Amino acid sequence: MFSNTFPLWPTRASTLSGQVDALFIFLLMLCGLVCISIFIAIVVFAIRYRRRPGHRATQIEGSNAVEFTWTTIPAGIFVIIFVWGAYIYFQERTPPKDSMDVYTVAKQWMWKFQHTEGQREINELHVPIGRDVRVIMTSQDVIHSFYVPAFRIKQDVLPGRYTIAWFHATRAGTYHLFCAEYCGTNHSGMIGDVVVMEPAQFQTWLSGGQPMGSLSQQGQGLFQSLGCSTCHRLDTQGRGPNLMGVFGKPVLLEDGRTVTADENYVRESILSPAAKVVSGFKPIMPTFQGIVSEEQLNALVAYVKSLSAQPTGAGQTPTFRGPAGAKADTRQR
Ligand code: CUA
Repeated sequence: MFSNTFPLWPTRASTLSGQVDALFIFLLMLCGLVCISIFIAIVVFAIRYRRRPGHRATQIEGSNAVEFTWTTIPAGIFVIIFVWGAYIYFQERTPPKDSMDVYTVAKQWMWKFQHTEGQREINELHVPIGRDVRVIMTSQDVIHSFYVPAFRIKQDVLPGRYTIAWFHATRAGTYHLFCAEYCGTNHSGMIGDVVVMEPAQFQTWLSGGQPMGSLSQQGQGLFQSLGCSTCHRLDTQGRGPNLMGVFGKPVLLEDGRTVTADENYVRESILSPAAKVVSGFKPIMPTFQGIVSEEQLNALVAYVKSLSAQPTGAGQTPTFRGPAGAKADTRQR
């Protein structure tokens, strides 16, 4: 009934767009039905109970049956809407494992993308059909919002942290990318294209020139030139934690808390090193706030991540701990 060409709906180009539309259509029809019923009731009652000689209104003092009905039926409908909505929401908020990462920096007024293979683009994002793509986003200035109607995703992009959106494109084509949060004079011009390509085509596009190496190689270069590697040694435990295999693992902190070493944790550790000090280490690391750009931060995060992606040999512990050993088993979370 509502085909892909139905003009009121944007193209459906992701795995979730059909589900989002189904819920939307359900809500629309439900609201329409309630609205029509109310209008019909108004007209019918207005005619039927109009003022006439010989007719008098009688007071009704309540009815349990009526109250029970108008409580349970709407409650049931609301529960259905809640469960259905939550089901879609949790899917949309949970990127599948082994997604392809794309780093995004939003700024007034453009979108900058960094692929893990090293490609960069501005206001254009190339992705393949049939892959889960995780967009790791941050802003260089104010709040923006990453909105791709064809994928039915919208996610705010905040300065000072990463937010994440994901999609799985199902149709080749070029789709609108909008900024959906008012961000200044040229907010309306902060637009771009998401280009969904056949996998083979995408590979060709990817291999078209990689002047600076992969993102993690760029990060490795920064790791050396900024001096990170003098304390964070990869062969042994230096003055800072050895970062080998740390990403994605729980980390025991000096104050007893356990956090997961995700993108936001690595980012915070670079910009505010004293915020979450690893158990057994001193808060001696200087901040790199103002020294590294958002793009360089992304490269550093990609590098730290790559230290966990490689198949590592024996002796790798599932939980990352300080050199003094563990205070508690942090494996259960
Ligand atoms: Cu960026 Cu609106």
